[in-house]
Amino acid sequence: MCPPAIETDALRKTYGNTVALQSLDLSIEAGTIYGFLGPNGAGKTTTMRLLTGLSDPTSGTASLSGTPVGDRRSIADIVGYLPESPPLYGEFSGREQLEYVVGLRMLDADRTAERIEELLAQFDLIEDADRRISGYSTGMKQKVAYIQTILHDPPVLLLDEPTAGLDPRAARQLKESIAQLSEAGTTVFLSTHILPVVEELADTIGVLYDGELVAEGSPDAVTERAEADGDATLEDAFLAVTSEPMANR
Ligand SMILES: Nc1ncnc2c1ncn2[C@@H]1O[C@H](COP(=O)(O)OP(=O)(O)OP(=O)(O)O)[C@@H](O)[C@H]1O
Ligand SMILES: [Mg+2]
Repeated sequence: MCPPAIETDALRKTYGNTVALQSLDLSIEAGTIYGFLGPNGAGKTTTMRLLTGLSDPTSGTASLSGTPVGDRRSIADIVGYLPESPPLYGEFSGREQLEYVVGLRMLDADRTAERIEELLAQFDLIEDADRRISGYSTGMKQKVAYIQTILHDPPVLLLDEPTAGLDPRAARQLKESIAQLSEAGTTVFLSTHILPVVEELADTIGVLYDGELVAEGSPDAVTERAEADGDATLEDAFLAVTSEPMANR
């Protein structure tokens, strides 16, 4: 049997007196689109950084496709991470940025060149591909950052607010890309504050509140849990499980 694509056991992170993540247990099957929700400061970015091995846990363990996240070399091939503030070089053009990643990751340049052109076209970036990134709009930067995240075909994608700053067309392109990758077997773990994005895409959602997973299940199951009368929306559910005192816990 395949190990879960993402697995954590009592994963915990504190910063001084701040408990950013209490004790997280996740087991996410390969091919799942997992929507990770939670209010500002809930611990979503902290979790993603732990899952990439960029940050060390205070205690507990995490692995991706059976590989402990501490094994940085292997994890770099397994994971594609789109952080909140993506690393891009302003002096590069979009195309140069992507070629730089090809070199950095030692990808097959010929095979990837075609892929880069396809992705630039898919995200309406062809016309701007040779302009400097420093002159790009927020959404254009986000699109290049997403492309560089998926370029090495990682089996696990961690996307922190991937639709931030995207206009509706770009958001649609991104959602289509995520759905395509998922169909091909990629596991996608994404955080967002935009609930329709998870309603549209996610097989499973988890709601983090104050460093604790307070709800997990299909979007429908989480929504139903919030309200007995059957009229609840995911937004109602989100507000119910992330309020104090938490009646639903
Ligand atoms: N490097 C750090 N040093 C100190 N505290 C931190 C650090 N990173 C995160 N925190 C704290 O950990 C908690 C969780 O933060 P985190 O960034 O994970 O939240 P988030 O769910 O991603 O929020 P947002 O929706 O605003 O992006 C917050 O209380 C935050 O202040
Ligand atoms: Mg965050």
